[in-house]
Amino acid sequence: NGHKSDSRGALIVLEGLDRSGKTSQSSRLISYLEGLGHSVESWRFPDRNTGVGQMISSYLTNKSQLDDHAIHLLFSANRWEKRSLMEAKLGSGTTLIVDRYSFSGVAFSSAKGLDIEWCKAPERGLLAPDMVLYLDIPPEKAAERGGYGGERYEQLEFQRKVAHSYQLLHDASWKSIDATLPMEDVEKQLKEIVLDCVTTCQKGKALSNLWS
Ligand code: TMP
Repeated sequence: NGHKSDSRGALIVLEGLDRSGKTSQSSRLISYLEGLGHSVESWRFPDRNTGVGQMISSYLTNKSQLDDHAIHLLFSANRWEKRSLMEAKLGSGTTLIVDRYSFSGVAFSSAKGLDIEWCKAPERGLLAPDMVLYLDIPPEKAAERGGYGGERYEQLEFQRKVAHSYQLLHDASWKSIDATLPMEDVEKQLKEIVLDCVTTCQKGKALSNLWS
């Protein structure tokens, strides 16, 4: 492909419950795409390295308490502070594999009872992913996987509510993958879908904004 440097990278998001396997699959995808000679970076939200990210981290580890609306807006701000860098990377041809994004923001906050439209509002205008890969696992199965690490949301009853909220967010850019399958099978499916998406973006598919 002689035009590789002119073409944009793909914005690919992995979503799913805690312990659904997103993080391991993300690193496998990165090695795969790198091996094929693509420019690719692994991102994750929350990005705990920024000032906002440190407030989020302290909340998640129960070191601080925050109103549900306030923490929702911090998660959103954490994505907004990375938006321009994200757009620049994609524009220069780098594909981003992003572990959690606005869908986590809406699913987790609406699982607490916040209005879903209120939750979506601050996400409007962020970059829309080219593809959302949903690692689908029953909450009970996820909980069995070596247990939870003890962060604020890692409890079965709450994860059940999150799973329900995620169901309300599926749209045309979503692909659900059965995350109860052996890791290698999940990996194989993801590789195929992702490579297809990267190719489509290289061919000139336009970037758009979320929920606008
Ligand atoms: P992590 O375990 O992937 O680092 O995510 C930390 C927790 O934060 C996880 O339980 C999901 C939750 N979360 C939100 O509640 N809102 C968000 O916008 C994001 C990105 C994550």
